[in-house]
Amino acid sequence: MPADPHLPVAHLRPPRNWINDPNGLAFHDGHYHVCFQYNPYGPEHANMHWGHFRSTDLLTWQELPLVLTPTPGGEDADGCFSGNAVSDGDRMVAFYSAFRTDRWAQPVTTAESRDNGVTWTPRGSLLIPELPEGATMYRDPYVWREAGRWRMLVGSAQADGRAAALLYESGDLEHWEYEGPFLDRAPQPVAPGADTELGWECPQYLHADGRGALLLGAWDPQLGPRRTVVYPGREQDGRFLADAPALLDHGPDFYAPALLHAPDGRWLLWGWSWEARDPGWVREAGWAGLLTLPREVTLAEDGSVRQRPAVELLSLRDARAVTAAGETAGTAALGTVGPSFDLTARLEPRAAGTTAGLRLVTSADGAEYLDIRIDPAAGELVVDRDHASLDPRAHGGTYRLPCPEATTASAAPIELRLVVDRSVAELYLPSGRTLTLRFYPTGGTPWRIEARAGDEGSLGYTVAAWNLRPYTMRYAADARAESALTNVGLVSP
Ligand code: FRU
Repeated sequence: MPADPHLPVAHLRPPRNWINDPNGLAFHDGHYHVCFQYNPYGPEHANMHWGHFRSTDLLTWQELPLVLTPTPGGEDADGCFSGNAVSDGDRMVAFYSAFRTDRWAQPVTTAESRDNGVTWTPRGSLLIPELPEGATMYRDPYVWREAGRWRMLVGSAQADGRAAALLYESGDLEHWEYEGPFLDRAPQPVAPGADTELGWECPQYLHADGRGALLLGAWDPQLGPRRTVVYPGREQDGRFLADAPALLDHGPDFYAPALLHAPDGRWLLWGWSWEARDPGWVREAGWAGLLTLPREVTLAEDGSVRQRPAVELLSLRDARAVTAAGETAGTAALGTVGPSFDLTARLEPRAAGTTAGLRLVTSADGAEYLDIRIDPAAGELVVDRDHASLDPRAHGGTYRLPCPEATTASAAPIELRLVVDRSVAELYLPSGRTLTLRFYPTGGTPWRIEARAGDEGSLGYTVAAWNLRPYTMRYAADARAESALTNVGLVSP
């Protein structure tokens, strides 16, 4: 294990310092461009710049110079907040939120690149200086091309208690007309104890064949980012007719996802997974946040939004580490994995109680583990990280992922895919539901996979796991490069 056992190798982030939202996602000149909120000076949310990676295949990445840097005294003097980017002929245009501490809103401004995203020229002035009436929060443009015109959503909270995604349109990316709210809603429930909140950040719009889905960062004026919600629906006369909202990800550590419409028609999505450990430990580690795996997002017939890891990631699978099939009435040791692995499982509980499932054991004495348990009464998988770190500075909690196959009445086996990369776990179900969380094992490797029947009945299992190879990463030629490569154990280009 390299120096920092929690630094991921198959999830995008720079080797040090703070990152949050994915930004500026665009396909241009044969490259996927992935930018992100980045503080180059420390592991806390401050001095927001845009960092930048690009790739031709989602596996080999190159870090490019910073896209956006706050301009002293300028409209974005205190931060270049979130937004997206579009490919427009031979130029890329980034749309972002200009942050100043002396202004309540973060109005939209732009920057442009004419060399395929390597260098950028900020416009300096605001693109849309006037703010619509009634807004009390306003930021995070999302621009896309549709039916011969450019369209933009901006996230907002309204004085009347509604959250809103505000719609603008333009023929030339330069002159924008305000069309009104695309969708606005007072808080609506999405899960026990969770609603769509008073404000929406980072709106994203996925649309295909007359249907669509709005992805929204549900934000509370006091508590800030809470969770990510999705409204499926369809557009009619410039308004979004929304069905009932749902959680986009059922884990505690997923927020502000962003979409990239790939040239092959796929909608790809990256989210921000924040830390789940105390600030003192973050300061010690010197880094915070990572981007999730790229996910393919589709709209199902029933209106639900489905996610699965981008198919390209299959080629990060190295030698098979675990191959196991059988049935246990107790605990079966299935084999060992490295700290970054991709696992598939088919589980068949037979008269099992509420503690059957899979366990990832990360300390030699078995005291440290992450559990995925089957709750047949609720029809849910329960991910329990209460024992996932022996370090008390790691956050605990149990989180639930709806899984109808888990109910006692179901004859269908439970299938799942779990991708773990050192301190992040992403759980995917065939229904397209996901759960993302962070955990911080301290026990060193190898890690062990167990199938557990729990206190009653038995558990049938078929499990395969592959260790993951790191992304190939070429960092920008700057002072960081050498220590970065040693830190995450990546090979020099
Ligand atoms: C979401 C967010 C955005 C904002 C950015 C600032 O996480 O709060 O609304 O533009 O982060 O870093």
